[in-house]
Formats: sequence, structure tokens, C-alpha cells
Amino acid sequence: MACKAKTPRSLKVEVIMATTLNVNGTNAASGTSPRSTWSEEVRVLARERNAVILAHNYQLPEIQDIADHVGDSLGLSRIAAETDADEVIFCGVHFMAETAKILSPEKRVFIPDANAGCSLADTINADQLREWKAQHPGAIVVSYVNTTAEVKALTDVCCTSSNAADVVRSIDPEQEILFLPDQFLGAHVRRVTGRNNIHVWAGECHVHADISPSDLVDTVRANTDAELYIHPECGCTTSALWMAESGEIPGNNTHILSTGGMLEEAKKSTSERVLVATEIGMLHQLRKANPTTEFLPVNPQAACPFMQMITPEKLLKCLREGTDEVFVDKRTADAARTAVERMIAIGNPGSGE
Ligand code: 13P
Ligand code: SF4
Repeated sequence: MACKAKTPRSLKVEVIMATTLNVNGTNAASGTSPRSTWSEEVRVLARERNAVILAHNYQLPEIQDIADHVGDSLGLSRIAAETDADEVIFCGVHFMAETAKILSPEKRVFIPDANAGCSLADTINADQLREWKAQHPGAIVVSYVNTTAEVKALTDVCCTSSNAADVVRSIDPEQEILFLPDQFLGAHVRRVTGRNNIHVWAGECHVHADISPSDLVDTVRANTDAELYIHPECGCTTSALWMAESGEIPGNNTHILSTGGMLEEAKKSTSERVLVATEIGMLHQLRKANPTTEFLPVNPQAACPFMQMITPEKLLKCLREGTDEVFVDKRTADAARTAVERMIAIGNPGSGE
């Protein structure tokens, strides 16, 4: 039986008088104004503010369904850079909204809760990166986009999970690289590029690190015919590849993919069942993209507490009150922009629709 992604807080649909909402029309039978739902108010306010609502693939289903665009971190960065809306409402975590602000300094960028951080981004700060660079003078710094603006400002080129290998391939093979902050993504990039001159920061995302080899082995053994999608931040990535190489699971059924890559793969899948090793918010988009395949989480507890801080109530408050606005000081933003723009120019375009 499919194990459904758990929504931590059930959606509270707010019923608001239409008069306070500028929603036109009256109820002919009763003569009263019609009432608007939460989703109608969100759409009306977004239109009034000329705001585009972006949602990461890990957001709560209600947030994904109301957004103008849902995608992976690279795809959403591109959309934020290209939109002609005046405001960007970023339903994701803080580094993602900050990246949108870096790319579009003239736009107002908001996140419904500025406390939505990222345990992976918190594993390295600017002082630690300065010290690491001093130990490897001349090395090129490749930072995963899950980093603060200050760390990006000290970076040569950013990457996401969908273009990390292409970014590294674009660098002279003789050149020493500092790759940060995710150790599992770094190990994956080392493996696929065959380079051994990459130093990897020992950071991890607590959600993906908790998708363990034992979770994987148990789920795969219980579903031997299923395909397997694994996000490269997962603690089980190496075990999955080892199981595929040893024949314990069929190698051609195992895919290491970014969240956007999973979606593309799901659209063309003819499998009866797919096991998904990533944050469980992803299941919503996968199930919508392919309703005939069953998508099961490798670890049903793998929910990102930061992503889930963006609730329907906070999105509405953000649109009504303009909270929380994201600011990045000009010097930091200018330095970070070069690294982010290099990332956008390289390889896989990411995914966002
Ligand atoms: P993507 O780059 O695949 O969207 O993932 C972002 C992220 O935060 C993974 O945990
Ligand atoms: Fe950060 Fe992990 Fe949450 Fe992604 S899933 S936002 S890496 S804490």
C-alpha cells in the first residue's frame, strides 16, 4: 500500500468576507457577498502585488498547489531571475530566497518565515571558508547553492544537485577544487567525474543523512521490482551504488537524481512502483506527474522541518503584510552574483514549471 506523505498541520482554510478581499460579485439567493477561500485570497493578493509565488518541490502540498511555479532550487533560481513580476514570494528555505534576491536586487523578495533555515547551509560559515581557502591557496571553490550569501560571496562557482558534476567538469582537470558543504554530494561528484583532486567539506543535511543504508536495504528487499530514485545528499547513496554494482539491486533501475531530475524521470516511467529516497514533500509532485505509478518513500519520516515552516497561514500573512522581506547587502550580493550566474550558465537547466 502506498505510504502517503504526512502533512504536519492540516490545512486551515480561512473563510474571509469577500468585501475585505476585493472579490467581486454577490450571492443572488441571499443577497450577501460570496465568501472567499484561503486560495482565492492568496491569488487575489498575488495579482494585486504583481507577485510571483515560487514553491520548492519539498513544500507542503497546499503550498505547491497554489504556487505559480514549483521546481528544484536551480529551476526556481532561473525563474526568479527571468520573471517580470515586481515581487517574488519564495516558498522554500532562506538560502533559496536569498539567491533570488542576489539575482534580482531590484525586486522585492519575501519568504513567509525568515526562520526557515537549512541545517546543511549552517555547516559552514564565511570565517570557516576563509580559513579553508587559506589552507589551499589557488584552489577553485565550488559551493552547493545550499549556502549563505556570505559563503557564496567567497565562492568561484555555485552548483546544485542537478548540475554539480557539470560544474566540476567545466573546471581544468589539473585544478584543485574545494567542494562544499555536502559530503555525500561531494562523494557523488568525485565518483562520476573520476577526479581525486576534490577536497570535500564534511557537512550534511540531517534529513537526507537520516535516509540510511538500512532504510534502503529494507525497502529495496521488500520491493524487488521497484525502480529507485535517490537524491545525492542521502546518506544511503554509496550503499545504493554498491548494491547496484554487486547485483543486489538492478543497476539500471537505480537513479541518482536532483528533485527536478526525479520529476523528469517520473514523467516517463512505466514502472508499477518507484522507491524515493529524498524529503517526502517530493512525493506530491511525483504522484501528480505520474498517477499510474506508485511512489513510496524509502524513509517516510524524512520531512524537512525548515521547509514545513512555510504554512498556508504564513503565506497569506506574507501577502497581506509583506513579511518577511529578504535583504542582502550590496557588496555581498555583487560578489555572490558572479558565482550564482556561473552556475546558471552551466549544464542541466534544472526544473521548474
Ligand atoms: P534540489 O537542488 O534538488 O532542489 O534540492 C535542494 C535541497 O535543499 C535538497 O535538500
Ligand atoms: Fe536543507 Fe536538508 Fe531541508 Fe534541503 S532538506 S532544505 S538540505 S535541511
